[in-house]
Amino acid sequence: MLSCLEAIHFICSKLIPPEVIDKIFDVAPIEEVVGEYVTLKRAGANFKGLCPFHDDKSPSMSVSPSKGIFKCFSCGEGGNIFQFIMQHEGLSYPLAIKFLAEKYNIEIDEGQIDVDELKEEARIKDGVYACLEFAKNHFYERLNSSQDGKVIYKPYLTERGINQQTIDHFYIGLSGTQRDHLLQEGIKNGYTSQQLFDAGLVKKINDDQGIIESNLRDTFLDRIVFPIFSVSGKVLGFGGRIIKKDTKAPKYLNSPETVVYEKRKELYGLNVCKQSIRKNDAVFLVEGYMDVVSLHQSGVDNVVAASGTAFTEEQARLIMRFTHQVTMLFDGDEAGVNASLKHIQTLLSADINVQVVLFPPDEDPDSFIQKRGSAAFHEYVNDSAKNFVELIQEVKLGKNPSDPIQKAEAARLVAENIAALPDPLKRAAFISETSNKLDIPERIIIEEVNKFRINNRKQKDREERRVQKANTSSFSDGPTPGFEYQPNYETRNSPNITDNKNYQEEEILKTLILHADKEFNDKITVAEFIFNEFEEEQIWPISEEYSQIFKDAYAHLKEQKVLNELYFIRNATSSKIAAEVLSVRHNLSKGWEDNFEKFVKSDQENYKSQVIENLNYLKLKHIDLLMKENQEKLKVAETDEDIMILQHVHDNLLKIRQKITDQSGTVIS
Ligand code: UTP
Ligand code: MN
Repeated sequence: MLSCLEAIHFICSKLIPPEVIDKIFDVAPIEEVVGEYVTLKRAGANFKGLCPFHDDKSPSMSVSPSKGIFKCFSCGEGGNIFQFIMQHEGLSYPLAIKFLAEKYNIEIDEGQIDVDELKEEARIKDGVYACLEFAKNHFYERLNSSQDGKVIYKPYLTERGINQQTIDHFYIGLSGTQRDHLLQEGIKNGYTSQQLFDAGLVKKINDDQGIIESNLRDTFLDRIVFPIFSVSGKVLGFGGRIIKKDTKAPKYLNSPETVVYEKRKELYGLNVCKQSIRKNDAVFLVEGYMDVVSLHQSGVDNVVAASGTAFTEEQARLIMRFTHQVTMLFDGDEAGVNASLKHIQTLLSADINVQVVLFPPDEDPDSFIQKRGSAAFHEYVNDSAKNFVELIQEVKLGKNPSDPIQKAEAARLVAENIAALPDPLKRAAFISETSNKLDIPERIIIEEVNKFRINNRKQKDREERRVQKANTSSFSDGPTPGFEYQPNYETRNSPNITDNKNYQEEEILKTLILHADKEFNDKITVAEFIFNEFEEEQIWPISEEYSQIFKDAYAHLKEQKVLNELYFIRNATSSKIAAEVLSVRHNLSKGWEDNFEKFVKSDQENYKSQVIENLNYLKLKHIDLLMKENQEKLKVAETDEDIMILQHVHDNLLKIRQKITDQSGTVIS
């Protein structure tokens, strides 16, 4: 799903003549563009260097001059020269084009881009970042130098075992004690009321009135504040803890969502802990700011918090960039258990291995490690870590392990979690574990898991359809090439619709990128064959991730233009995946490279059968969807005639399916 801003960039990029973009590609070699920011060393035909988009210790970034792409094998960033500039300079796509055009003296007709509007947005964001940075420094100074800080708040932290080094590390601070302290300081330092308001640092007293000084007050009053940083270290907002006991105010107060802070996408502590998370290939997920800070101080520095209740798919994906192993450390009370159960499913769906450690009553990771030290902490974690089957067994059946009703409830909950696992082998393993632990036949659990999977699938299909409807024109009238993009602003923050990953489509796209212009037979190319099949078999890709790329490529081909590797590298929507498909790891052993050569060679020879195989997979997917739909209709069919017709449809689909699987000589489930 494109964000608003990306959508705007996308639209504008369509307005910049392709000749201009091609000219820039021709005069700006990728090794030179990247080389401005990163020291590159030659490695065979490619270059390698430290990736600027994560904390890279040994060079993980590969740059291919012949293909014009960069790719980091550690953090996954990749693309063409424009993506590099966008990422590095924090520019939008059109501004990245403008940036390189200016650098290489290529003229752009400015009238063609509404750069002003884009600049305005970038300007607002920059102002907000600057305000937040200012506030962070201001709060930090107050904690360390003001009278209040020295006599009340710092001693509070000291009493809780937090030392100066940790305060410095996390930039912990103290907000003002009068209602417009930060507002006044901000204005004195050249920031406007509007900027402070946009940053979430001040809020309106009276909602009906405007953003004028007299109607504003500080968001954070009398609180110890924890700056929330982005992965790359920009301040996005704050979490503030009150220390007075007698107020009705909430214990923790968090920054509101702003143009730079989308809570669902951030994790507290990640910027400080990311290296250690990667090194340990594991992360502890805790509930609060203090848990992160305190564990870090005790040397457990691979820890993050979702701060707040929800744990989102975006956060799971963020974790995946660094590790696949999550150990959740939660309070053992009911709220903690319920929260952990919710988090587990989100993590499992992202194919993350997850374990849970519940802490004794009235303890949390912070209090535990402060009292008992890190050795005892590790021992406790090792002894009490449970997978979700064990966790559910304990919390649902702890006291009466044979209560039939509780047991059924536990089994259902476990099945729901198993259903979330994308990997069928893992599902099978957990089904058998559950059967043993709960003493329920496997068959019954499988049935239950299937029920959840069918339901999830249906829900996903519904969402997919909804998104499709909102985003693109219907495919039933065939593809609609050309530019028809309608940005859908409403769906920007709605949950669960961003990850309709479609492996079949991804595989075909990869084949297309690698072989588009090769001949398929003496009449047509691979690309032509693939698009013909899409048309004739009515299997146009439908995923939000890839359908636009296919549509664009088809439109390009229809205009009698050459569709090849270069097209996918240079096209804004496809360059990232093209970089992934076309880049080769540089620092592999010689033996591996030889093997890779062989692999590539056989890949080159086998591409025709690959094309057919992948199209078959896609056909099967479409047939399976049709069968499922049909089955649903069967379930509610009332007359015998209806049932017969539907049964007939089912049999026919089954036959077609069988024919395809026979053809590909593979059993596909
Ligand atoms: P806890 O109440 O468990 O606090 O909330 P804690 O982390 O142990 O804090 P200390 O040790 O008392 O200082 C856990 C997390 O839930 C969110 C915060 O992110 C907090 O870190 N929370 C809690 C809020 O957002 N608002 C609240 O009022 C309370
Ligand atoms: Mn606590």
